[in-house]
Amino acid sequence: MYRTHTCGELRLEHAGNTVTLAGWVHRIRDFGGMNFIDLRDRYGITQLVFNPEHNDALAQSASQLGREFVIAVKGKVVERSNKNLQIPTGEIEIIVDELNVLNASITPPFTIEDDTDGGDDLRMKYRYLDLRRNPLQQNLLKRHEVAKAVRAYMDAQGFADVETPFFIKSTPEGARDFVVPSRLNPGQFYALPQSPQTFKQLLMVSGFDRYYQIVRCFRDEDLRADRQPEFTQIDCEMAFVEREDVLQMFEGLVKNVFKKVKGIELPEFPRMSYDDAMLFYGNDKPDIRFAMKFVALRESTPLSLGEGQGVRKNSVMIFPTGFKVFDDAETVIGICATGCAEYSRKQLDELTEFVKRPQLGANGLVYIKCNADGTFKSSVDKFYSQEDLKNIAEKFSAKAGDLILILAGETARTRKALSELRLEMGNRLGLRSKEEFKPLWVLDFPLLEFDEEEKRWNAMHHPFTSWRKEDDALLETDPGKVKANAYDIVMNGVELGGGSIRIHNRKNQERMFSALGMSKEQYDYKFGFILNAFEYGTPPHGGIAFGFDRFCSMVTANQEGIRDFIAFPKNNMGRDMMLDAPSDIDEKQKKELGL
Ligand code: AMO
Repeated sequence: MYRTHTCGELRLEHAGNTVTLAGWVHRIRDFGGMNFIDLRDRYGITQLVFNPEHNDALAQSASQLGREFVIAVKGKVVERSNKNLQIPTGEIEIIVDELNVLNASITPPFTIEDDTDGGDDLRMKYRYLDLRRNPLQQNLLKRHEVAKAVRAYMDAQGFADVETPFFIKSTPEGARDFVVPSRLNPGQFYALPQSPQTFKQLLMVSGFDRYYQIVRCFRDEDLRADRQPEFTQIDCEMAFVEREDVLQMFEGLVKNVFKKVKGIELPEFPRMSYDDAMLFYGNDKPDIRFAMKFVALRESTPLSLGEGQGVRKNSVMIFPTGFKVFDDAETVIGICATGCAEYSRKQLDELTEFVKRPQLGANGLVYIKCNADGTFKSSVDKFYSQEDLKNIAEKFSAKAGDLILILAGETARTRKALSELRLEMGNRLGLRSKEEFKPLWVLDFPLLEFDEEEKRWNAMHHPFTSWRKEDDALLETDPGKVKANAYDIVMNGVELGGGSIRIHNRKNQERMFSALGMSKEQYDYKFGFILNAFEYGTPPHGGIAFGFDRFCSMVTANQEGIRDFIAFPKNNMGRDMMLDAPSDIDEKQKKELGL
């Protein structure tokens, strides 16, 4: 028997027992011939003692061990005189009587510690060693727990887990496809699914009614901290539902997982329209852990009067002309950072540099300090009187001690830059705690967005999303105004998932493809299968997909990225550093594949 207990299991109550443990040599401390070894496995660390006075030969062998050797030991559990209350096994140690070296190890390229000395690339190359580290083990075990909680909820709600194929024809989700050449059909390719979107809809046509799958998806897109080329979705679809049914069901899923895995009761999720999200946060996935909402000094686009209070069409401008940057701008918007009026020149310069980075591309940053004595100091004092600045400050409901930061320019770019600046200020002011969870439904997305490069409309979610009944006539006349029956679930500024009520008849699906600029030949060739299916009694249906890796990262309060929640991820260039993939294949293989 290799072991009677794990390395995380023994307590004071086991004192006196003879036990066998197996694991990795984590640390060795030699006190003049007396060797203390921390033995590690997935469950914890137990201290082993090799005392020359107890067994000299054994103590000698112990001194030959190195880090990451795999050993099994037999010995007696005793109470420790020098207790370590930081770890659960810290009250006991094992006086070793037998040592069995199961396997040696060469010196690992980095330390197997919570805070390792290994750089990113090295750890990716030796991922199997990185995965020995406790934080990564905990992440993957948490992932397992989240999956269990998801399955339990879905099962209880009557969802059936059905698998869908990986070798398919393209499913458009806005990224490029990964393709696989077919040997039996030379010159032809399968595409790997960007999501099982069309299959889950076909399962509704088949009458499965409630489907889900924790499934791998493949997207050839630019990678970021929260994007991997292969990632996992909790993919769901339901028949005979309206938007409200789907929102309730999956709000339930998120609440359930947080309750089970974190012990947190999330309150009812607030809802926000896409338009309000853009107006108040400049972003369709607002982080609502803190307010700091945008205030518009000038908006060319319709101006919201406040969440849920309607929209005013006219642009506003509450200061006199004279400052050309503001006068010429399509949009002038700002935020109020509470208590930051004391910001130094250096701090303000940092913020200016932040918004001027090429990714954000703002031309500059205007600030107004609301001084304690009721006066104002701004970067635009030349153009505006104290009275003008006071008017602006009032618009922001700014108080003495606050700092107003304003950007001006073209609407989309200015909103994006201010959105990033808002998040930066949120970080600086400590308003984005990782242990606070603020979910949000974002609703009423536009159905289409105009692609300036291609000069045509693209689906904002995907081409199977339906639109609001009241906008039906606009699809052919004013497509930009059509709102989709689509929803995103956002938490702490991260898009956790998205979905929609689908088109479920051939006519509307063809109208949608036409709106996207496809000819009949094109959509029949690409999507004939689903158009045909829609003619055989398709029930109304809708669904959602969560990014499972993101969900796990969120539940674990990590939020830095998803890589460390995936056992064997790719790097930012889409490479597997351990396998050194992608790689060339040999000529014979190429020839067989007709490449
Ligand atoms: P969508 O494209 O919004 O919708 O994807 C759903 C969720 O998947 C996650 N996600 C990713 N996670 C990691 N790496 C990626 N490259 C990546 N891309 C997306 C996000 C996202 O919210 N078929 C539709 C869903 C539906 O309509 O039911 C779909 O795939 O968290």
